[in-house]
Amino acid sequence: MDAPDCLGQPIKAGLVKDPASDTENRTDYWKNRSPGWTEAATSAKPSDDTFNLRLIEEADIESNMKVLDVASGTGDPAITIAGKLTSGTVTACDMTSEMLAVAAARAQKLSINNFQIAAGNMISLPFADSCFDAVTSRNGLMFPDDKVGCAKEVLRVLKPNRKAVWMVWGPIEKNPTFGAVNTGLEKYFGEDFPPRMIRHNLGDAGLLSDVIEKAGFAGAEEIELKQERTIKQGDDYFRRAVARTAPHRIENLSEENWADLLKNVEERCSDFREGEVYKIPIVARLGIGTSPG
Ligand SMILES: C[S@@+](CC[C@H](N)C(=O)[O-])C[C@H]1O[C@@H](n2cnc3c(N)ncnc32)[C@H](O)[C@@H]1O
Repeated sequence: MDAPDCLGQPIKAGLVKDPASDTENRTDYWKNRSPGWTEAATSAKPSDDTFNLRLIEEADIESNMKVLDVASGTGDPAITIAGKLTSGTVTACDMTSEMLAVAAARAQKLSINNFQIAAGNMISLPFADSCFDAVTSRNGLMFPDDKVGCAKEVLRVLKPNRKAVWMVWGPIEKNPTFGAVNTGLEKYFGEDFPPRMIRHNLGDAGLLSDVIEKAGFAGAEEIELKQERTIKQGDDYFRRAVARTAPHRIENLSEENWADLLKNVEERCSDFREGEVYKIPIVARLGIGTSPG
């Protein structure tokens, strides 16, 4: 019998029909955000891999595996996974073709050849049953309404007795720089930038493991990840944060405008400053599911 075909459909803008009503789960919502992510992905390598590496470790990824990364966006953690595989492959799947195009360009820039992209909505993944040795997903499961349905889809495409690992943002109170960046944007543009609370809707302990259990995984675990990331003054960390938060406002900014805007943002982050560096607290959660054997 032929091996099941794991490959997604060829990438094509507008290919994926959006089944959900939620704004942030709509393909055009993310399409419109993609210029900000393109700006944020100027360097092909991830700017910080600390959480990616932990996610990969928990997924028990081995070098010959066929791995799926769901809601991969511009390619995280798929790019890092590809670098760890020798004979294996990684498929970066996302509903937004524009984000995947950036992921593909990053892979090409890094001469990574075991990397594929596939357009697909996580509520109905475009893959056959039991195709993948491991599934990862970073900062995507917060967005769909039917999170259990999306986790069931992951279980469907995963081989028996293998791992799926999701990362989500922790609560906003434990990630205070999101608020600080928004306040800097409000001051510079003179308009409201309300925090995107949807980003944190799986951030409280127990929520993610509950989704994983309800989806039918044999085991469900949850881990809090904490980091105090050291950022040098003037680092493009803040520029990337602004680009992702306000993609609609950055397109026509001159370098002079950028410098003013970033000054505002860095000022709002002064509580985290220690001498020449910022110590940025970051809290995320990992949810780990094992498929039944
Ligand atoms: C915050 S970005 C995260 C991207 C990447 N994993 C990362 O950590 O940089 C969220 C991504 O989820 C994707 N997304 C949101 N809802 C989705 C859905 N229902 N199906 C597939 N992708 C979805 C968006 O297109 C976007 O690329």
